Amino acid sequence: MSGITIALSKGRIFDETAPLLEAAGIAPVESPESSRRLIIGTNRQDVRLIVVRASDVPTYVQYGAADLGIAGKDVLLEHGGEGLYQPVDLNIARCRMMVAVADGFDYERAVRQGARLRVATKYLRVAREHFAGKGVHVDLIKLYGSMELAPLVGLADAIVDLVDTGNTLRENNLKPVEEIMPISSRLIINQASLKLKRAALQPLIDGFASAVTA
Ligand code: ATP
Ligand code: PRP
Repeated sequence: MSGITIALSKGRIFDETAPLLEAAGIAPVESPESSRRLIIGTNRQDVRLIVVRASDVPTYVQYGAADLGIAGKDVLLEHGGEGLYQPVDLNIARCRMMVAVADGFDYERAVRQGARLRVATKYLRVAREHFAGKGVHVDLIKLYGSMELAPLVGLADAIVDLVDTGNTLRENNLKPVEEIMPISSRLIINQASLKLKRAALQPLIDGFASAVTA
């Protein structure tokens, strides 16, 4: 396709993406939030949006099915980032990747004693690297969501999950014990597209970047 395809996800990231699209001069012809359509036109003949799951955005961009996308650093780390440029931190959907445990669990002591920990998470790569870096032995259990439940029902000693306000942890009698890294969303670009469509892409990249600094 000679035009430009932008991959976005609904929900959290989209709310904060709308003003950035506007700053780049792009207005969807219908709201990606309410529409059931997966391909959405814009005010520009040569630009369309595709609506995908948040964790699928890097895959569409990696393979060139989309030229550009917006994805959380959490998702990018799990994907690996192959074939992607990540030129702009958009500073949206900010939160922290954390280790959390049940209120009554003495995490520091378990670590000091060299205990083997069971850790449930959607973020296997990040968790593996984090605990390897600390020299803590872990058995990782892959989950796809609602990680907070795992320590409550004996599936795991700890979880690695995203924390923003801390409300989800508090409401489930869990406590954060370690920050792994801050998370925000990035603009990502297919490496081949950037070479082949630079003239069309650069103004969009600049539009997004200026909206962030503003
Ligand atoms: P998928 O639909 O692929 O399973 P998801 O349900 O996690 O993904 P969202 O909840 O829309 O998708 O989250 C999208 C991104 O928003 C995450 O990848 C992360 O970078 C960021 N994010 C997630 N939770 C929070 C939060 N509580 N506060 C701020 N940002 C968050
Ligand atoms: C995210 C994350 C936590 C919660 C943290 O879930 O997985 O559960 O937000 O936010 P808080 O600290 O402000 O409570 P989300 O709401 O995206 O649900 P999902 O992962 O099931 O999509």
